[in-house]
Amino acid sequence: MTDPTSDGHVHIPVLAQEVTRLLGGRRDHDSLRGLLVDATLGAGGHSALLLERFPRLRLLGVDQDPEILSIARERLEPFQGRVRTEHARMSELDGLLAEVDEPVVGVLMDLGASSLQLDRPERGFSFSWDGPLDMRMDPRRERDAASIVNQWDEGDLADLFFHEGGERGARKVARAIVDARRRVPFKRTRALSELVAISLGRPLRPPGRPQGSGKVAIHPATRVFQALRRAVNEEAEELEAGLRAAREHLAPEGRLLAISFHSGEDGVVKRFLAGGAREGDWDLVTRRPVEAAPGEVRANPRSRSAKLRVGERLSQPGKRA
Ligand SMILES: C[S@@+](CC[C@H](N)C(=O)[O-])C[C@H]1O[C@@H](n2cnc3c(N)ncnc32)[C@H](O)[C@@H]1O
Repeated sequence: MTDPTSDGHVHIPVLAQEVTRLLGGRRDHDSLRGLLVDATLGAGGHSALLLERFPRLRLLGVDQDPEILSIARERLEPFQGRVRTEHARMSELDGLLAEVDEPVVGVLMDLGASSLQLDRPERGFSFSWDGPLDMRMDPRRERDAASIVNQWDEGDLADLFFHEGGERGARKVARAIVDARRRVPFKRTRALSELVAISLGRPLRPPGRPQGSGKVAIHPATRVFQALRRAVNEEAEELEAGLRAAREHLAPEGRLLAISFHSGEDGVVKRFLAGGAREGDWDLVTRRPVEAAPGEVRANPRSRSAKLRVGERLSQPGKRA
């Protein structure tokens, strides 16, 4: 299922069949009743499928991006009466769920950015088109990508690009940024993506063009842009807070489903669930991450790096069933 918007952009929910199957678990369509928390509602693609599939499910849909939230509200209109949406961050989930008086039977996190953000140059996530160097998913945030690029010192920028983006040329890029911004501060995505490509000695190719090995070439600025996006939106801290809220508020036998697109993020989810399983908080429903089948990757290249992990909250924390 796709999410067409008024300007023709789409966001295709990844691993949709697997999410549906693993949320339900042993329960059939009618017996899964209670509240599903979609902590990264986006355009509501996963949520719409789940509400359709499980008629007794109600939804609390949360997103930090009010623009996307309005698309989701329209999309979820057919389920009126079963849906509540909130403009909030995952780090605010604990407070939101403290006021809920029905059992939380599922928490879904489809992490990272939506195609509806990535494909809009004016949001500043894109290295392929020119736009303001913004990258804030939540407009309440004060710090945007331009302020990081123009204000952080060279060592901090290098660490960010290396640790959050996996960019091996992080030091070269950081040095080039600090040299260039002395002349003119960075304001636009294109100026930054061109400088990154030059500093890495990697000429710009059209995105997606196959290399000699048959692999798809990624844009040279991909890793640096990913690292900036993660810092602007404090994605690591948000994930930790979201996982804690899921542990705190899921009802016994409720399931946490987390889809990551970044190896560091997948590692955090894996360690959280494995540690919780040792302490008797979780049963691991997936021992290895679920990945997209080749057909899905062909239809939706974004699903290529998706990893889904699922844990079930134990009914008697501290004791194995
Ligand atoms: C990959 S999209 C979700 C797509 C959605 N599953 C669908 O099928 O339409 C991720 C969404 O999560 C939101 N998001 C990311 N981090 C968030 C956070 N910490 N708190 C709230 N929303 C967040 C983004 O704004 C984006 O809309």
